[in-house]
Amino acid sequence: MSEPTIESILQEQRLFPPSAEFASKCQIKSLEDYQQIYERAKADPVAFWESIATEELHWFEPWHTVLEWKPPEVKWFLGGKINISYNCLDRHLQTWRRNKAALIWEGEPGDSRTYTYAQLHREVCQFANVLKQLGVKKGDRVGIYLPMIPEAAIAMLACARIGAPHTVVFGGFSAEALKDRLLDAQAKLVITADGGWRKDKIVPLKEQLDLALAQNGVPSVAQVLVVARTGQTIQMEPGRDHWWHELRVGISPDCPPESMDSEDLLFILYTSGTTGKPKGVVHTTGGYNLYTHITTKWIFDLQDTDIYWCTADVGWITGHSYIVYGPLSNGATTLMYEGVPRPSNPGCFWDIIEKYGVNIFYTAPTAIRSFIKMGEHYPLARNLSSLRLLGTVGEPINPEAWIWYHRIIGGGHCPIVDTWWQTETGGVMITPLPGATPTKPGSATLPFPGIIADVVDLEGNSLPNNQGGYLVIKHPWPGMMRTVYGDPDRFRRTYWEHIPPKDGQYLYFAGDGARKDDQGYFWVMGRVDDVINVSGHRLGTMEIESALVSHKAVAEAAVVGCPDEIKGEDIFAFVTLENNYQPSDSLSDELKQHVVKEIGAIARPGQIRFTDGLPKTRSGKIMRRLLRNLAAGQDVVGDTSTLEDRSVLDKLREQDH
Ligand code: WTA
Repeated sequence: MSEPTIESILQEQRLFPPSAEFASKCQIKSLEDYQQIYERAKADPVAFWESIATEELHWFEPWHTVLEWKPPEVKWFLGGKINISYNCLDRHLQTWRRNKAALIWEGEPGDSRTYTYAQLHREVCQFANVLKQLGVKKGDRVGIYLPMIPEAAIAMLACARIGAPHTVVFGGFSAEALKDRLLDAQAKLVITADGGWRKDKIVPLKEQLDLALAQNGVPSVAQVLVVARTGQTIQMEPGRDHWWHELRVGISPDCPPESMDSEDLLFILYTSGTTGKPKGVVHTTGGYNLYTHITTKWIFDLQDTDIYWCTADVGWITGHSYIVYGPLSNGATTLMYEGVPRPSNPGCFWDIIEKYGVNIFYTAPTAIRSFIKMGEHYPLARNLSSLRLLGTVGEPINPEAWIWYHRIIGGGHCPIVDTWWQTETGGVMITPLPGATPTKPGSATLPFPGIIADVVDLEGNSLPNNQGGYLVIKHPWPGMMRTVYGDPDRFRRTYWEHIPPKDGQYLYFAGDGARKDDQGYFWVMGRVDDVINVSGHRLGTMEIESALVSHKAVAEAAVVGCPDEIKGEDIFAFVTLENNYQPSDSLSDELKQHVVKEIGAIARPGQIRFTDGLPKTRSGKIMRRLLRNLAAGQDVVGDTSTLEDRSVLDKLREQDH
């Protein structure tokens, strides 16, 4: 199987229109319908978003201004009062959906639970009341460090209900990474579990949190709320740590939702950028609610009888927008799975689809590639006929994997929505609409209505079709990030200054390379900055470099991505050692383990190459392009004249042979 190289993708000509039968049942039934909505939104985005906000969401009080755009500062629905937990729960209780399954959960060891909307509402209200009892007030930040259990969604909704912004930290992050995030967010309380199940093992979440909080490591954290999941013994610090199952006893299930300003902070989610420190991406209430609601509705063409399953983790933006907020705001049945496919259970995804009759399935290309490797006999041995729509997210999908997904999982009849977006964008930006858009394997196709996307050069000039350039967005949209938490300057620099405003128009710089074809379809080629995408997990090369140089043996480190058949990219680290250390396999293992400790297992380098020096320019900048070539096992291409010391490169090349 080959990687999605520019050459292979440029040759991709196959077109997959939705069947007439599928399209006839969709909310948006044809390309003409899409184009009409798209043009209407483009001509007057403010009127477009205003009409959707009126039709689709419940507001306690209406807004007085739809959009205020003082680049890069943006505000949507100013003056509007809203609560996303009300839109996700309360408003469905007044309809027949009251007793519809809201959340179906499948645990890793085979246990399961289902919550109706009425039950979920009750749980969320009780959870919110416990948070209040522990002193959490509107505006206080709450850390969430949980496995994929219903309480993760319940905790998020409970925070939203009382106006306490949450910051969810992926359970795979280490104590160090958790500490950094809690410190930056100045969290007052953290919600965790005694442990979580992952790949037949217990992840000791509370233990990691204890390490992060040790020696007053995060002074703002006064309380810890612990959910019992695995039942193993953990330390409970008196006065600080509380069991959720104990505090909920006798707690009222009545908790009126806080009336939030549309622009009040809903959550902070940390993501990797080009510097060592992860950024706290800020999302606010009204615009995010609207954008995740309407994208979920149209892209997944939700019908009331559907069982919808997104396999992401709630620790990432996909889990926030497309497991919790988007589906629940639509009154859908959303499925959540604690585990991930593993060698001892290679058919687990297909078992779940069969068990629950899943209709809409949304996963990552990495997962698809690993299923291809495991063999098609696993999915073929299950009844997957309930599926009607498939989706992918997180990284470019190679056409071979797309075709396999279409044929083996979708039985040749399910449209695939390849959705391009980012933590920063809040929701999907470029995507097919399943009843409208003929798809091409490997292309995320066309922008969602209201999104003006383009491919430009570094000066902001639009590029002609079929020419590679930078992906930008030209008009603000409701789901966009508002700032980097505590660092508005970084927000401006990272997203709005790479490419200068063109004719007075500000361009949001996504950090991805892309091209458009003759039909206006977008082909996203991957990151153009120092961010790498390993199994759909976004990591900054600088973060990993900082982790490496914090080890006493390391003098200097440079990290690049290299192509990987399953993960898309893998982490390749070039390391120079301090004088008194010698390269060895055991040191290599030790360094890998050190990165796991500093960041988490997702950042473990696949390969470490020891070297005497790194190729640098005369001004001292590491020439990453050359390292990327070497890591990919290619010959070094392009200009090397700016190298300060050519012999460094020659030595590295020798090592290659
Ligand atoms: C990449 C995940 C190609 C891209 C939702 C982006 C994609 C980064 C796609 C954001 C796709 C996401 N095709 N590339 N369909 N979806 N990406 O913030 O490089 O974890 O910039 O958000 O993933 O990753 P993040």
